[in-house]
Amino acid sequence: MEYKKLIELADDVRKNSYSPYSGYSVGAALLTKRGNVYTGTNVESASYTPTICAESSAIVKAVSEGEQEFEAIAVISGADDFVTPCGVCRQRIFEFGSGITVICAKNSEEYLEYSIDELLPRGFNRESLEKGNK
Ligand code: THU
Repeated sequence: MEYKKLIELADDVRKNSYSPYSGYSVGAALLTKRGNVYTGTNVESASYTPTICAESSAIVKAVSEGEQEFEAIAVISGADDFVTPCGVCRQRIFEFGSGITVICAKNSEEYLEYSIDELLPRGFNRESLEKGNK
């Protein structure tokens, strides 16, 4: 699937963002290796801390449907700017592979493309943990 299309899907779902506190709406679209797309939005909370980011929503939906192999994730906000995943979401993406492509979009024509290991250098993962399990 073209990244332009993935960004459009992320932008479409952004309309469902529940972000009354920040007013910052975000949409994400996660492309799996099977070729399916799971979308997600940010879901905020009056007590702030439980807020879930769009990228995490999409990951939770995909995993819940039985998919764990991901190709790429596109993320877009309502701001006229490139949005990059927060630290927690970088960790969540990295959990499923160091080669996942992260598309940080300003709009469907303008986007930055990274590999998750560029956004989370020397990230901690399952292998790191297993080294401690001697
Ligand atoms: N947010 C996301 O959903 N994804 C990002 O990549 C950055 C931040 C959300 C969390 C919160 O609802 C709002 O944007 C402001 O931080």
